[in-house]
Amino acid sequence: MTITPPTIDAIRSLYPGLAAGTVLLENAGGSQVPLLVADAIRDHMLADYVQLGAGYPASDRATATVERAHRFMDRFVNGEGIGRTVLGASSTALTHVLANAVAPTIAAGDEIVVCEQGHEANIGCWVALERMGARVRWWSVDPATGSLSLDGANGLKSALSERTRIVAFPHVSNLLGEIVDVAGATRLAHEVGAKAVVDGVAFAPHRAIDVAAWHCDAYVWSTYKVYGPHMGAMFLRTDMVDDDRHPLEGPNHFFIARDEVPYKFELGGASHEGCAGLCALARLLAILAGEDEIEAAAPCTTGAHAETCGRPTIEKSFEAMTDLEAPVQARLLERLATHSKVRLVGPSSAAVADRVATVSFLHESKDPREIVAAAHAAGVGIRHGHMYAHRLCTAMGIEPDPGVVRVSAVHYNTVAEVDHLMDALDPVLA
Ligand SMILES: Cc1ncc(COP(=O)(O)O)c(C=O)c1O
Repeated sequence: MTITPPTIDAIRSLYPGLAAGTVLLENAGGSQVPLLVADAIRDHMLADYVQLGAGYPASDRATATVERAHRFMDRFVNGEGIGRTVLGASSTALTHVLANAVAPTIAAGDEIVVCEQGHEANIGCWVALERMGARVRWWSVDPATGSLSLDGANGLKSALSERTRIVAFPHVSNLLGEIVDVAGATRLAHEVGAKAVVDGVAFAPHRAIDVAAWHCDAYVWSTYKVYGPHMGAMFLRTDMVDDDRHPLEGPNHFFIARDEVPYKFELGGASHEGCAGLCALARLLAILAGEDEIEAAAPCTTGAHAETCGRPTIEKSFEAMTDLEAPVQARLLERLATHSKVRLVGPSSAAVADRVATVSFLHESKDPREIVAAAHAAGVGIRHGHMYAHRLCTAMGIEPDPGVVRVSAVHYNTVAEVDHLMDALDPVLA
């Protein structure tokens, strides 16, 4: 059977929230969810909403759903066989779980490198290890551009030493949209015997994650920004949990064995209905990869797609998403560049290797609140603020409140939507 790749209209029809009338260009805050994911959550709650592991049919089905979701997320990040994915309430909750597990292994004078470009979710929990005697060192940004480098005066290398235990940094800044060299930073961390903890929240909606290729030790992302339910996910490499010198123990109950990962790192357990939604996500990826017909997008009650969705499908679906996003981010940057009073905060390059479609800017004289209000009046959802990258704003000399104006697109946004926004903003930005 030949399957025609879906058109953008067909893709948009998968997301009921896009039909509500507002142009949603605030996707770095949270993405829309396809009906097939919402249906799977509903179906799970109506048919299999029972406790796990009790041995009767509904309990067996619920157990299988939760287990399947974890396995699918392992594959989603290309981590099968090298680690496991912990599910939790949010990325912030999960980085705190990890930092608290690292805390008892810290000796006075151990060093933790945190990154000025990061979201506070991957900073504050590490800075808190100062209470264990850790010394916090900063991977600083270039104050003019917000950019990171591996070498040079502000580079990661200059923050590392043989005492470094953890290097916590973002894969993409949720304010700048810049893609960081995760493999390069991880290599430097490993050279001094440290572990690399990557915040992939702002990368995950846009490109396929590949922890095997990048060798990072922990990788965190928020499933509610990747077309799924409101949860967080954290891949943990087995080498990090079972490290010879500093083995980690998750916080779950004492009678749950240390090596019962991911469960040991989940406080109580993951959202069961959320797991059903994550399984259904596999169906979305198959459609985007051009391997499944949209018309057959019946609710995915069995989670079967999560069993069969392999790495090629995952990679192909994200290539398709990147192809859809590329002209949208190019148009946004092009239209902003026509305004001499607008200063882009983040890379001006539209290349998909350099950035994702998360674009922030400031105006020479106009308050971000005024610009955002004009967008809202035109029916476009965008926002202003520090985006919880408070320290980045301070480092760049930007007042965290009102912060920057941020426009963020994903694969279901269109050039026409960007034009609609910019037609409304042109008079304000002139
Ligand atoms: C880059 C980045 N990291 C971490 C987070 C925190 O995610 P969560 O809301 O799942 O805690 C966000 C949320 O906006 C983010 O953009």
